[in-house]
Amino acid sequence: MSQLNDLPSTYTRFKVEPYTPNIGALVHGLDLSQPLDVATQGELRHALARHEVIFFRDQQLSPEQHVAFTRTFGGVAEVKAFFPRLESHPEIEVVESTAERQKAANNWHADITWREQPPLGTSLYAQVIPATGGDTVWASLTKAYESLPPAFQAYLETLTAVHTWEISGWTEYLLRKDTSGEELKAARAKYPPVEHPVVRVHPVTGKKILYVNSTFTSHIKGLTRSQSDALLTQLFELARVPEFQARLRWQAGTLAVWDNHSTQHYAVGDFFPQHRKLHRITITADKTF
Ligand code: SIN
Repeated sequence: MSQLNDLPSTYTRFKVEPYTPNIGALVHGLDLSQPLDVATQGELRHALARHEVIFFRDQQLSPEQHVAFTRTFGGVAEVKAFFPRLESHPEIEVVESTAERQKAANNWHADITWREQPPLGTSLYAQVIPATGGDTVWASLTKAYESLPPAFQAYLETLTAVHTWEISGWTEYLLRKDTSGEELKAARAKYPPVEHPVVRVHPVTGKKILYVNSTFTSHIKGLTRSQSDALLTQLFELARVPEFQARLRWQAGTLAVWDNHSTQHYAVGDFFPQHRKLHRITITADKTF
């Protein structure tokens, strides 16, 4: 039996307001700058697994408090290398619009699926938010999978996909950063392509998830290139279906936590030259699935 089914479906420590019928919830009644007791932490993990992305408004957190709160959901480690880090707190990456990098992550992806054990989730806390624009959109890949006909679901369950950071633009980024190619060579040696089943089972909810994304999934094993491209194009489209999505309008003090197993996200790149800055912490686990 899944852990989700073992937990009560009501919350005693805070209020949960669904954000859409399919994905997302606003959590009310918590001050995340204060330590949370064990029961509250358990209910929050439950709310995250159930709603896949949860939002908190009007939080006032120091970097230490942001890190401490994020530990509610798992480990906090320096696992990502492509956003600059906060000098005082290397667990925190700074997602910030600059003249050189006007927008980032405006492509559909789950984080770091090019690792054997991709992160469990992410905690993103608003610092500077544009007057308009700069929303983030999440898609439920649980709902995407559930929308497919059973015979197609059964076929997808037989397939394995290859994931690599090399199709995401980081090859070119690393070559610009180090024209000798040494950094690229080192990254290739450290992070070779990995394989994941096309359909995975969520470790908490027991629900099936369509586990391919257009940023990191290069191909499906055992199919010809054109068969693989055609199938992946069809599957990638499912993240773009509005019925499976929640779109967050950020405000100062908003914090979002998402489940990286069951969702993909997209940072809408419509705000530059307005300033947008968020603090991002990757949530890790020894074993993701
Ligand atoms: C990310 O993909 O981690 C960044 C999301 C955002 O900037 O909204």
